[in-house]
Amino acid sequence: MNVLVIGSEGFIGSHTCNYLASRRHSVYKADIVMKDEENYFALNPEQIDFSSLFLDRKYDVCLNASGAANVQFSFNYPALDYSLNVSNVYMMLEAIRRYNPACRFINLSSAAVYGNVSTLPIAEKNTGVPLSPYGWHKLYSEQICREFATYFSIGTISLRIFSAYGPGLKKQLFWDLYNKFRQAEGEEVELFGTGNETRDFIYIDDLVKAFELIAEKADFSGQSMNVSSGTETTVLEAAETLRKHMKASPRIRFNGREKHGDPKNWRADIHTLRGFGFTAATTIDEGLRNYAEWAARAQI
Ligand SMILES: NC(=O)c1ccc[n+]([C@@H]2O[C@H](COP(=O)([O-])OP(=O)(O)OC[C@H]3O[C@@H](n4cnc5c(N)ncnc54)[C@H](O)[C@@H]3O)[C@@H](O)[C@H]2O)c1
Repeated sequence: MNVLVIGSEGFIGSHTCNYLASRRHSVYKADIVMKDEENYFALNPEQIDFSSLFLDRKYDVCLNASGAANVQFSFNYPALDYSLNVSNVYMMLEAIRRYNPACRFINLSSAAVYGNVSTLPIAEKNTGVPLSPYGWHKLYSEQICREFATYFSIGTISLRIFSAYGPGLKKQLFWDLYNKFRQAEGEEVELFGTGNETRDFIYIDDLVKAFELIAEKADFSGQSMNVSSGTETTVLEAAETLRKHMKASPRIRFNGREKHGDPKNWRADIHTLRGFGFTAATTIDEGLRNYAEWAARAQI
């Protein structure tokens, strides 16, 4: 496949490019990071023009791994979050519609569209209420994908990724925890919530394999699809596992306070993804061991 990855220099984008290249796909990259590399397009963040990506070259698939990936950021800068997660998706699809209509579009959405859902596992038809601007913006991006599939016959799919993690991720729960454990050696680390909150974590190597399966096997009819491991892990268990692999000693104390925008329990219904032959190969124990090793090397 000829694949264009927009947001190629980010956490998910960079792993996706490396994996697809290792599978002998032709990979083209685009990001706002300035660098000179073959098959790389440096976009000007002041004047984003996605059309230029599609004028001279045609792709089978475009995967959008750009955008903001942070709930708190969306509370602080809602308009910027909207521009990155909604307006840009529209502009990418408009460029595809005009210059490369055969290109199928993969939109990285998020489980944040669900908010708190009472029934687990969470199925795609389960429409909760998002708990943050980020969650709403991802929902709007999904609707845009549906619009282009319905009215302009552009092949689109939105992937509701739950909690992705792995080497290279310098944000979210595990990066915060890593830094707290390191800085509070021998003392106590305080975390939000009760520890009984659950998440469905997916290791980055499994996520990028899921992308390839989806690109090859999904029909691109504007639908939304869960992508995760399908395994529920408590925040307490995840925190203790990371602490074990860091050989750190701080006690973990949960303060019982809810964090703005954070849901309580998440486990994805991934039967559609399983139908494509997907199984998550990396346990949370293995994944966090790799993460702790990488973070120790990456620490400045
Ligand atoms: N990390 C997760 O757990 C997770 C979960 C669900 C959904 N997602 C979604 O996946 C996407 C990627 O997440 P991530 O964690 O890799 O984020 P990231 O911040 O690591 O990467 C985003 C990349 O996009 C680039 N970018 C920003 N604006 C751009 C633009 N206008 N044009 C081209 N590139 C631009 C950035 O330079 C960066 O390299 C986001 O849309 C995020 O919401 C991530």
